[in-house]
Amino acid sequence: APQTLQAYRASLLYFRADPAFDERAHVWHEDGLLVVADGRIQAAGDYASLAPTLPTDALVHDYRGMLITPGFIDTHLHYPQTDMIASPAPGLLPWLDTYTFPTERRFDDPAHGRAVAEFFLDELLRCGTTTAMVYCTVHRASVDAFFEASEARDLRMVAGKVLMDRHCPDFLRDSADIGGRESAELIATWHKRERNLYAITPRFAPTSSDEQLRTAAELARAYPDTFIQTHVSENADECAWVRALFPSSRSYLHVYDQFGLMRPRAMFGHCIWLDEQDFARMADTGAAAAVCPTSNLFLGSGLFDFEKADGARTLLSLGTDVGAGTSFSMLQTMNEAYKVARLKGSYLPALRMFYLATLGAARSMQLEGVIGSLASGNEADFIVLDPKATPLMARRTAHCGTLDEMLFALALLGDDRAIRATYAAGRKVHERAA
Ligand code: GUN
Ligand code: ZN
Repeated sequence: APQTLQAYRASLLYFRADPAFDERAHVWHEDGLLVVADGRIQAAGDYASLAPTLPTDALVHDYRGMLITPGFIDTHLHYPQTDMIASPAPGLLPWLDTYTFPTERRFDDPAHGRAVAEFFLDELLRCGTTTAMVYCTVHRASVDAFFEASEARDLRMVAGKVLMDRHCPDFLRDSADIGGRESAELIATWHKRERNLYAITPRFAPTSSDEQLRTAAELARAYPDTFIQTHVSENADECAWVRALFPSSRSYLHVYDQFGLMRPRAMFGHCIWLDEQDFARMADTGAAAAVCPTSNLFLGSGLFDFEKADGARTLLSLGTDVGAGTSFSMLQTMNEAYKVARLKGSYLPALRMFYLATLGAARSMQLEGVIGSLASGNEADFIVLDPKATPLMARRTAHCGTLDEMLFALALLGDDRAIRATYAAGRKVHERAA
């Protein structure tokens, strides 16, 4: 039976273009109405013009004083690392050895995977994130556990089995053959089942043999509408390692390019040490960057260069990179992205940050028209933000002169407390306790 029409009265914000390159990129309805039916957005507009068009049995939810935006999209994080968030180590490689690999080992137990996946999805929804690109572990059961949990909640999630067949502990090692076969089977089971989507997931170049990278690329060609996700140019020691392992490659990114892993729907985490040629290649191939500022500051990896990336018009999005990232909140991720941009001499207006966390990510994933917008026809994944969520936020947002100032205060001061409610496919999947 069709759902009753649901309507939500609040301020509405979404994007139809990138505000860095288009002054009329955002859509704003101060007193707006969002109309939802059967899990999709039917209309978004001014309350005064849309309210009279509603059928008499429509349910109107009053969120006046709140702000509705598309649900946030986190394009890079690791669900198995939830329990090791905030683990100290002097840099990426010791952090992987000391905490990450032993933590991921436990995901050979499907019950453990299921329990962590449930907590992880609860936490994403509490923070207003409705879509994420998620690394599982090398264990296929970790992927089944994640997708089962995501399907039960009818979420639009992207995830994949980590491929690694060298330079890692034996207990986390697959092979080119086994990794390729298991990935193909997982694609057959999960890709496009309900709202789930599959990502071919070589962890990073140091932990995959040439043969495994070739196998990953073959899969990516055989299943062109799957995603690819990996790490690139995060940390200086890692970059030096890759130069030693692949002496004939022009750059770290070029390693993936040589194997045929750059294409639309390929999401490269970090991209800190890329040069102009690399960013141009990203743009030319339609690959996208997941910028992960809380992780990069935490591990001391480096500062993403927004100006260089924008110079090449590279597709950009934001990732938390939990467990190296220190928060599940995309608001906190914006906060740190802003400061990273400042330290590199560039500047991120608040509208740009909200774009990157919504439509920018959807475009990076070739999912424009599906998620990341309140335009009619999109899936009804949206959040209700409370600009007065804390006493300090209430005091600060009471006297904002412009929309940009209000959004900036929300990004800099906000976290999970600012998420009043989260909706996925038109259903309420989180509501903040009063
Ligand atoms: N590079 C390879 N694996 C990882 C990981 O799990 N986290 C981060 N931040 N970088 C990586
Ligand atoms: Zn990562």
